[in-house]
Amino acid sequence: MTESSGPDHLYLVGMMGAGKSTVGRALATRIGLPFVDVDTMVEGEAGRSIPELFAEGEEHFRRLEADVLSTVGQGPEPAVVAVGGGAVLAEANRRVLAGTGTVVWLRAAPSTLRARLEGGDGRPLLARAGDVGLAVEKLVAVRAPYYADVADLIVDVDGLGVVDVVDAVQRRLQAIGRR
Ligand code: S3P
Repeated sequence: MTESSGPDHLYLVGMMGAGKSTVGRALATRIGLPFVDVDTMVEGEAGRSIPELFAEGEEHFRRLEADVLSTVGQGPEPAVVAVGGGAVLAEANRRVLAGTGTVVWLRAAPSTLRARLEGGDGRPLLARAGDVGLAVEKLVAVRAPYYADVADLIVDVDGLGVVDVVDAVQRRLQAIGRR
């Protein structure tokens, strides 16, 4: 957190398939904080699934995502927050992340992401990709600098199970005195 204005959330960022929701839920249980999933909140607010929202245009989804993130950022109670993979693209979102919490980038190699995402799994950005590996590589190339920009910590998740990643995040947070 670069400004001490917010509730000090613990944000998990990174590509789809990096394990933000699964790790976030387990981490929240471990450290005794509520868990918030921005994608799930967007779906709840809109009353529609993410693929349905994308069908109305990615812009529409991104506006809802920014609104939800801004609301979460202002929430008074600290939470572990899983942030959808594309949210870092918007400067306003990056400001919310940097200003209201500690940001952990769950970094996964494209080969790891590809193996996890090959089935599509409800991700509209990959649904029509002929070559998921290539599509993932392109997204990573664009987004990695933004993840690096907002991250207080980077945890490499390749080859690790959920508990290993939770352990690593917790260790690293303790090492920087954040939680
Ligand atoms: C997206 C990632 C998804 C979801 C939407 C767009 C992206 O979230 O927000 O499908 O742009 O990378 P996850 O990262 O939780 O899969």
